[in-house]
Amino acid sequence: MDGLTIVLHPLVQHKLTLLRDRNSSIQLFRTVVREMATLLCYEVTRDLPTDPIAVETPVATTEAPAIVGKKLVIAPIMRAGLAMAEGMLDLVPSARVAHIGLYREPVSLHCVEYYFKTPEDCAERLVIIVDPMMATGHTAIAAIDRLKEAGVTDMRFVCLLASRPGAEAVRAAHPDVPIWAAGMDEELNDHGYIVPGLGDAGDRTYGTR
Ligand code: URA
Repeated sequence: MDGLTIVLHPLVQHKLTLLRDRNSSIQLFRTVVREMATLLCYEVTRDLPTDPIAVETPVATTEAPAIVGKKLVIAPIMRAGLAMAEGMLDLVPSARVAHIGLYREPVSLHCVEYYFKTPEDCAERLVIIVDPMMATGHTAIAAIDRLKEAGVTDMRFVCLLASRPGAEAVRAAHPDVPIWAAGMDEELNDHGYIVPGLGDAGDRTYGTR
C-alpha cells in the first residue's frame, strides 16, 4: 500500500509473534512493546537531515554528521501508546512528548477526546504519533485531525499492527501522513478487533483484563 511501510526486519517480526502469543506474560508484553518501538523508531527516523559539525576526537579534529533542526515530538495516543513512547524515548531521549487522550466508544467505535497536551511550538516540529493498534483507523484519523487543528503539518504514524481496512482509511483521510507498522492483518471482527491480531494492547500492557 502506498505510504505504508511494513518493517520486515527479523527482530521486529519475531517480537511481533511474541506479542501475538496469548501466553506471553504482561511483563514480557510490556518489555517487547517497548523494544519494538525502539526498533521502529530507528526506521521512522531514517531520513532525518544531518549536517557536518566539527568534532575533536582524542586523535584529531574532524567533521562528522549531526542531526539538525528542532527536536522531534513523540505523540502517544493514550493509554496503549505510552509504552511505545518510552521505547522511542530510549533512542531519542531529547524528544518532546505530546499526550493525546482518545478512547473508542464501545458501540459506535467512534473516538472521544479526553486529553490533549502538546509542546507549545508543536507546529514547527516533526511529530511521530504512536499507537500499537491501527484497527478501524478512527482513532488514528481523529488524532491526526486534532494535531492538524493545532497547526502540525509534518507527521508520521507508527503502530505495531495495522488492519488493512484501518490503514486504507487512514491513508484515504490523510494521504500526507505516512505509516510504519510491524505487520498488517486483513480483517477486523464485529467488535473492531484486529483478526488474528494480538488482543487488546492496552489491557495486555497494563494487566487490566
Ligand atoms: N485495539 C486493540 O488493542 N486491539 C485491537 O485489536 C483493536 C483495537
